[in-house]
Amino acid sequence: MEERKQRIYKWTAMGVLVLIILMLVTLESCVKDPIIESPTHTSCGTPLDLSLPNFFPPMSVPGENPLTVEGVFLGRNLFYEPMLSGDNSQKCADCHHQDLAFSDTVRFSKGIDGFVGTRNTMPLSNLGYGSKFFWDGRAPDLEHQPIFPIVSPVEMHEDIYHAVQELQASEKYRGLFYNAFCDSTVTVERLNFALAQFMRTIFSYNLKMAPGDVGRQSRNPIEERGFQVFIDEKKGDCFHCHAVNIFTTNFEFANNGTYDGTGDAGLGGQNGNPADLGKFKTPSLLNLIHTAPYMHDGRFKTLREVIDHYDTGFHVTPSTDPNLLRKHTDGNGKPVARSWTEQDKQDLIFFLSRLTDDRLRSDSTLFNPHQ
Ligand code: HEC
Ligand code: HEC
Repeated sequence: MEERKQRIYKWTAMGVLVLIILMLVTLESCVKDPIIESPTHTSCGTPLDLSLPNFFPPMSVPGENPLTVEGVFLGRNLFYEPMLSGDNSQKCADCHHQDLAFSDTVRFSKGIDGFVGTRNTMPLSNLGYGSKFFWDGRAPDLEHQPIFPIVSPVEMHEDIYHAVQELQASEKYRGLFYNAFCDSTVTVERLNFALAQFMRTIFSYNLKMAPGDVGRQSRNPIEERGFQVFIDEKKGDCFHCHAVNIFTTNFEFANNGTYDGTGDAGLGGQNGNPADLGKFKTPSLLNLIHTAPYMHDGRFKTLREVIDHYDTGFHVTPSTDPNLLRKHTDGNGKPVARSWTEQDKQDLIFFLSRLTDDRLRSDSTLFNPHQ
């Protein structure tokens, strides 16, 4: 009798142990990072010929996510797809409006729960030429960027696996995923990859900022005056960061004096490097008349306010860029007014307001495909 009891105890104990192990294994698979997934894509579809104008430099595309007609079309559908949000009410394009160069009019865009974040919606163009995305560069590449707004509690606030299930349940999306990846299975990685492909096809340029003769010939005399202020080291001195190229940026991160030593520290807040405190992604200056308000926190409503910031309004901290700090401050780190006249400033503002690309805003390959 005793022996039987002992056997029962032994088996029960082993059963409990097996159960615990099973539970741990299930838990483990539940908490796996949604961003890191084993590759589920297959290169498939028709290679996309971008036929970019010859003044565009070649764009490097990651080998594992080549641009295809079908992949870009899937990404375009997803960019305009409210199913990617928690209550199926918000799409990427609700904050990134094509007629606003894929930016928004408000200081902080509202997410599905009515909450707002602390950063201004960035315009989207020429993304394939940069690395590191967001004002603080926290997304290492475009393939890892889309999931951030989808799962963000102040943006689309969706469980990524729920979004995947919803797309999988849709016959239309099963077809679109099949066309893009030769397999109708929806995965987080394929979702990110297709959105990345679509975003790589958003191009914008303005030849008034092209280097050399092309630029000179594209500017009228008043624009030329503004451009000269832009490149004059004693006046605008803007070109160190907003490079003289068709994109109007060097795609780097810099501290342009918006950081006063407290609050949002941008890149430095992200990577913990003191030299990077207050550095933000240098934005493009294209389409400025459509992308206000300005800066990472949308603090300026007008270009006039931006110019006044660069004149004597910027903050000086140890990581403020030397191109601003050393040249345009007194010995005590106080901004010193530049040697520019009121006319210079107005010419510069006029020039900036002319860096618009109306072609981008009416490019029908970027329209909402669901309409
Ligand atoms: C609620 C508004 C909102 C929605 C919805 C939204 N975004 Fe954004 N987007 C932003 C804001 C704000 C930023 C800047 C955030 C930051 O820097 O922390 C941003 C930044 C970006 C950037 C970085 C651009 C650059 O130059 O570094 C990309 C790319 C982007 N969004 C794509 C998307 C995609 C794709 C979706 C849909 C899956 C989406 N966004 C949905 C507001 C939004
Ligand atoms: C040291 C590098 C640097 C210099 C020099 C510089 N900028 Fe900037 N600029 C930046 C960075 C970085 C940002 C984003 C800062 C932020 O979001 O807080 C920015 C933002 C802007 C914006 C806002 C764009 C947007 O989409 O929000 C405008 C406009 C602008 N700069 C124009 C100029 C002009 C005009 C000059 C010359 C008078 C100039 N910049 C000089 C780096 C620089």
